Amino acid sequence: MNRREILVTSALPYANAPLHLGHMLEAIQTDIWCRFQRQRGNSCYYVCADDAHGTAIMLKAEETGVSPEQHIETIKKSHEADLAGFDIALDNFYTTHSEENRELASRVFQALKSNGHILRKQITQAFDEEKGLFLADRFIKGTCPKCKTPDQYGDNCEACGATYTPAELIDAVSALSGSKPVEKESEHYFVDLSQFDTFLRDWLQSGSLQNEIANKLREWLDDGLQAWDISRDAPYFGFEIPGHPGKYFYVWLDAPIGYMASFANLCQREGISFDHYWAEGSKAELYHFIGKDIINFHGLFWPAMLKSSGFRLPTQVHAHGFVTVNGTKMSKSRGTFINAASWLKHLPAESLRYYYAAKLGAGVEDIDLNLEDFVSRVNSDLVGKVINIASRCSGFLKRLNDNKTLPEIANQQLWDKAVAASPVIAQHYEKREYSRAIREIMTLADRANEYIAREEPWKLAKSDDTRARAVEVCSDAINLFRLLAMYLQPVLPELAEKSAAFLACSLDWEDQPQSLPNHELSEFTPLMTRIDPKQVEAMLEENRATQAAALPANKAEKAQTGPDLIDFKHFDRVDMRVARVTECELVEGADKLLRLVLDTGAGHIQVFSGIRAWYQPEEVVGRHVIYVANLEPRKMKFGLSEGMVLCTDETGGNGLKLLEVASSIPPGTAIA
Ligand code: MSP
Ligand code: ZN
Repeated sequence: MNRREILVTSALPYANAPLHLGHMLEAIQTDIWCRFQRQRGNSCYYVCADDAHGTAIMLKAEETGVSPEQHIETIKKSHEADLAGFDIALDNFYTTHSEENRELASRVFQALKSNGHILRKQITQAFDEEKGLFLADRFIKGTCPKCKTPDQYGDNCEACGATYTPAELIDAVSALSGSKPVEKESEHYFVDLSQFDTFLRDWLQSGSLQNEIANKLREWLDDGLQAWDISRDAPYFGFEIPGHPGKYFYVWLDAPIGYMASFANLCQREGISFDHYWAEGSKAELYHFIGKDIINFHGLFWPAMLKSSGFRLPTQVHAHGFVTVNGTKMSKSRGTFINAASWLKHLPAESLRYYYAAKLGAGVEDIDLNLEDFVSRVNSDLVGKVINIASRCSGFLKRLNDNKTLPEIANQQLWDKAVAASPVIAQHYEKREYSRAIREIMTLADRANEYIAREEPWKLAKSDDTRARAVEVCSDAINLFRLLAMYLQPVLPELAEKSAAFLACSLDWEDQPQSLPNHELSEFTPLMTRIDPKQVEAMLEENRATQAAALPANKAEKAQTGPDLIDFKHFDRVDMRVARVTECELVEGADKLLRLVLDTGAGHIQVFSGIRAWYQPEEVVGRHVIYVANLEPRKMKFGLSEGMVLCTDETGGNGLKLLEVASSIPPGTAIA
């Protein structure tokens, strides 16, 4: 078999907060894939870094009273500790605030510039005179011009969904100083993405992206790509653009280049050829693991940058969904906003690795960490099924057969099945269908346990004439256990290491795994302990206490007293009913909204809904949804909205999803 040469990255976490379980999903997904590749004998480097630049990080440092450099250094240490705690086997964890990155970023920019891909434009932006800072939309707040809800940020209203420019906000103030922003002109640099239209269409066809992602990106291309603003004015924590004093690279320009810089740093240290991996035409493979919220950067902007500057393109970009806890967005007040360090304090890393693996597929669906299911799944699968095999059988081999396996497998059929599963499981890992791999492995574990339960070696061991049979069963069981540990190694490296020590053999993954004839085992030591639900409760409890305390005053209050209560009368006045969507279309000038026409059973009404991120208009037609029938009609920029459809916000601000009912429930049905 050819030894593949692979370079893998996961997205660079921002250096402004500790890592949480969402970040860990990505790190674990990536790490499993890399460990699998190495176990199969391929060369696989996994690099990452902190994304250290930008206004948010600059402000965070200021708030903490340290320099940005000090701040990112402290955060980097905490990120490294968390990643190590979850057994993420990185070859390098670097920072985007490095000399390698400065050089590479300027190289990419020079290339873009000399290829005529950079535009200069004069833009007008809100400016905080007190802080001496241009204000990104999210740093401006004011009253919604449509529904008059106060305290709305940036360019859209959380209360009514209206979109507007920050200039339209009533009584807008800087969220940083509270002062009234002024309009100020400045020259910015842009990447002229429209020149990459044909190139990007080909790239989207190339199979390097999941279909659902390619389709989404194609829609953006169809809408016409705007030039991408890649400069920011001083003061900014980042790299000053060479030859353009006072202008800095926007954080998202040098962030993906940080993948290269981290690898360049590794190359330098270990004598690897950088060009072998990054030059145009490279035969090495390059994979980016990312979350679905950053696909435009990786699926459009990054390939355009690479193309213009003469580097190779990624082999594949793998996007995953978002972590929810107990069915909803991680929440500080519920204690379910779980930091990596908090998990490690209360629970083993491998339990989360296993649970995520058992749920992860190759798509972008969100992954729910249901804590009750988590406890029972980990206990029953790992302790109850896998480890049970070794712990029940090792003692008999020790007592009755000098701690050795037999020369032959007794139950050939069972063994052959476990061997035959090898390529199937390998294929699932390769395709990132970890949940399928786990299902396959657990089926094998079930069969092994059935065999042991049927033969009852503990009874066979009691009498002289059946003792030999007990040894046969246990020798088979230990051989099967070795295959399971081998197949689980990418997910459970600690368990694999302890198992390899007990089995006194390697767990390298051969295509056709062989049994261990006449093989002497080492001492059996407990491989993993059961999880007690109390550990989970203690973690949540601690988080609730510390996080509620850290929330801003009004929110902290809510966390302590529960949500604001309404009385039954108020609730009863909300008239919710089923409706069927009969028409749906895009809304020009509002990229978050779709216009729906609802058949209410009593006629048709029009509503606007912020569900654009997740749906093509045609997918929405025919769905049975729930809408508020007695909402006062609202005049929006785009037309009259005569009701409101209910949605879930499971992606946490990344677009609403429709709440649906079965299509057998007719329009007009009341919700009670
Ligand atoms: N700094 C950028 C990435 C630059 S890559 C050149 C960034 N940082 S982040 O800290 O916000 O997110 C890092 C990664 O974690 C992203 O891939 C993001 O999708 C992922 N996740 C952050 N929260 C998540 C969940 N709740 N669930 C799953 N992944 C999530 O974006
Ligand atoms: Zn509003």
